[in-house]
Amino acid sequence: MVFDRVQKSYDGETLVVKDLNLSIGRGEFLTMLGPSGSGKTTCLMMLAGFETATHGDILLDGQPINNIPPHKRGIGMVFQNYALFPHMTVAENLAFPLEVRKVGKSEREEKVNRALDMVQMGAFGGRRPAQLSGGQQQRIALARALVFEPELVLMDEPLGALDKQLREHMQFEITRLAHNLGITTVYVTHDQTEALTMSDRVAVFNDGRIQQLAPPDELYEQPQNSFVAQFIGENNTLMGTVKEITNGVALVELDDGEVIDAKPVNVSKPGDRTLVSIRPERVEINKDRLSPDAHLIHAEVLEFIYMGDIYRTRLRVAGNDEFVIKTRNAPDQRRLKPGEHIEIGWLPDDCRALDAR
Ligand SMILES: Nc1ncnc2c1ncn2[C@@H]1O[C@H](COP(=O)(O)OP(=O)(O)OP(=O)(O)O)[C@@H](O)[C@H]1O
Ligand SMILES: [Mg+2]
Repeated sequence: MVFDRVQKSYDGETLVVKDLNLSIGRGEFLTMLGPSGSGKTTCLMMLAGFETATHGDILLDGQPINNIPPHKRGIGMVFQNYALFPHMTVAENLAFPLEVRKVGKSEREEKVNRALDMVQMGAFGGRRPAQLSGGQQQRIALARALVFEPELVLMDEPLGALDKQLREHMQFEITRLAHNLGITTVYVTHDQTEALTMSDRVAVFNDGRIQQLAPPDELYEQPQNSFVAQFIGENNTLMGTVKEITNGVALVELDDGEVIDAKPVNVSKPGDRTLVSIRPERVEINKDRLSPDAHLIHAEVLEFIYMGDIYRTRLRVAGNDEFVIKTRNAPDQRRLKPGEHIEIGWLPDDCRALDAR
């Protein structure tokens, strides 16, 4: 499935999808992740055929999607407002997509029961949607999208109404099922943990554009711009100006005058303003573990929190009071005290010099 230079405007003026190029492989689990209003649902609606692209093409198996009538697309869908048929029971709701596809009665019953069990709703087949809670309705909507084992499933925040435990169970069930049945899945969420744990690849959306498209580990380890770095996972950021770039290492002068090493990712030359970003777990407080010529900078300990497996320490670094470091609870790891002054550093590769937007 391919989005080829797709743009979308609802009012003929503003583009809510600006230039979307995306190719989704057969059997792939791809997640669209991004803040509210970034265009995720719009993209899903175009895939489903409920909205048309203003420019560009969407191809399914090489065919422009507009030429395929919706009922022939074999797409299972769960939308943000999971509308079930109110006049049908839960079991009838699930049997419906099977009836449309002429599945015989006994096979139908078997599949309906299996789908109900999957969402832990086995006892609710005889109820009507109005007699269910929001989260239960959402689970039924999910079961209905998967019951006919479609080749392609589109899911728009399908787990939003569920509590944490059930959500984690369903995340596992959905990915297991999708992989076992070889279903191609396009999944929309604004929950980054969900995106990282479930997906083969994640497309990070902002403002109608894909900011980065990558497998979860790459997204976390190698954010390509400051939006992605700040949107995915916890991150420390400092502002500065590039002094020089030599041998793939940028020397950055922070706004308080201190100098650090960073990997130049989204900066090109001396004088460029930059936002440098570093993960809390990559900050080193023990300089013996760094190379002798690493640049160290000064930090004041503001808060120390014992969290069992890790220590979480909040520092003041170059005027930033929210600089957080995580250190493993290990015999050789010192517990820091508020008010203490220390030096911190990192490997240049762990600190990324990004655009200063
Ligand atoms: N039917 C519509 N008519 C006009 N504008 C719309 C319509 N649907 C969405 N929009 C606008 O398009 C933009 C993208 O909306 P979209 O629903 O795709 O965002 P989203 O990423 O799914 O957000 P959320 O996480 O809140 O669901 C928004 O600015 C929204 O107001
Ligand atoms: Mg949406």
